[in-house]
Amino acid sequence: MKHNFVTIDNLSREKIMEILEMAATFEAHPNRKILDGKIVATLFFEPSTRTRLSFETAAQRLGARVIGFTDPKVTSSTKGETLNDTIRMVANYADIIVMRHYLEGAARYAAEVSPVPVINAGDGANQHPSQTMLDLYAIYKTQGRLDNLDIFLVGDLKYGRTVHSLIMAMRHFNPTFHFIAPGELAMPDEYKEYCRRNGIRYTEYDGLDADVISGADILYMTRVQRERFTDLMEYERVKDVYILRRNMLGKARENMRILHPLPRVGEIAMDVDASSHAYYFEQARGGLFTREALICDSLGITLDEIKADTTILP
Ligand code: CP
Repeated sequence: MKHNFVTIDNLSREKIMEILEMAATFEAHPNRKILDGKIVATLFFEPSTRTRLSFETAAQRLGARVIGFTDPKVTSSTKGETLNDTIRMVANYADIIVMRHYLEGAARYAAEVSPVPVINAGDGANQHPSQTMLDLYAIYKTQGRLDNLDIFLVGDLKYGRTVHSLIMAMRHFNPTFHFIAPGELAMPDEYKEYCRRNGIRYTEYDGLDADVISGADILYMTRVQRERFTDLMEYERVKDVYILRRNMLGKARENMRILHPLPRVGEIAMDVDASSHAYYFEQARGGLFTREALICDSLGITLDEIKADTTILP
């Protein structure tokens, strides 16, 4: 059945595992014609490199065609067209809409008014559920499991929508979260309350060093989100508070992997890239396969249908 993908919160453990299996199936054979004749619309009201390009690549590798925009200034929203009208218009042309918007809740709203499925590609500081699916794919591939992991979230935990979605998804897998942020960018109370309600253990501290890192299976670094600050002086004060350097990894567990949704702007020093713990570029690569899976799932194409698919190309 066709459906929206607006939040990660309503995905069951079984559904998450099914989408990860779909992604692995696409990683084995990414080029197919399973979406031949479909049109995917990508509406990006905010800048993006990875999310937009991986969704568009996913659509095209599966045989769909892509329409959309990367800059709302070239659309009729500058003339005052509402989001309601924009979505209803685009739904006349496309089979599915992938949308990033600067307003929290915009994806939910778009899904309510759209007759075709909507995938949330990030809404303000709220959620980024497709990023979370690729984060889960990276965690599963590197750890061999999702259960019982120590996951350290570092940096901008206030505005970083990827960490909010990751907490929600991990509730099925008995994680222990470690929140590391300066006071100004601490994990918002609503997500700590979410942890308490869902029996998720968490600790909070404000320092990042080799001893802290030694307890991690996953070290999830985040960028301080300049675009969400109203006071740029405050941004300047906190932007460099955590910089991960290679010499901080000496006590890390062998299985520990460093993830980052990217882009990075200095919070991971370049010398970390050559470490066996660095996994952020491979993580982003997995976004292609998870987004192939998410487009198909939202269009009602099942795992069994993907496994039986005969449209595979070399
Ligand atoms: N991770 C992520 O959302 O990157 P982009 O902003 O480049 O899409």
